Amino acid sequence: MDYSELVYKALEARKKAYAPYSKFKVGAAVIADNGEIYTGCNIENASYGATNCAERTAIFKAVSEGHTKLNAIAIVGVEKDYTYPCGICRQVIAEFASEDMKIVLGKNSGEYIVKTLEEILPGAFTKEDLKK
Ligand code: THU
Repeated sequence: MDYSELVYKALEARKKAYAPYSKFKVGAAVIADNGEIYTGCNIENASYGATNCAERTAIFKAVSEGHTKLNAIAIVGVEKDYTYPCGICRQVIAEFASEDMKIVLGKNSGEYIVKTLEEILPGAFTKEDLKK
């Protein structure tokens, strides 16, 4: 599967990052199971704690438009290395992940690696656990 377009969209979203405090800009792009793509950037706040990560911005945009099953998410932070999602974002990804969810970590649209949810969040606590 070629994720270069999804990574490119994450790179474009990164340009909109509002990160005046950390200066660490992140972009994300999710593809829902109907093929629709939603993008997001990190949005910081003077209170620091109210900051929203790029991944959650993109995911919440998808969910608020009615798409709760996501097939893949691309994430781009610094271009010299891969940026993995933070712990809270991993948990949010788990909530809306399709069976075969892919986490795509990009440096640029031509250089990316693909991870599964099990690889980045082994033993995730999910809605299935609530049924036990
Ligand atoms: N950040 C993200 O947007 N995604 C991540 O997975 C890691 C961290 C943002 C939050 C904050 O604005 C900045 O990067 C530094 O932590």
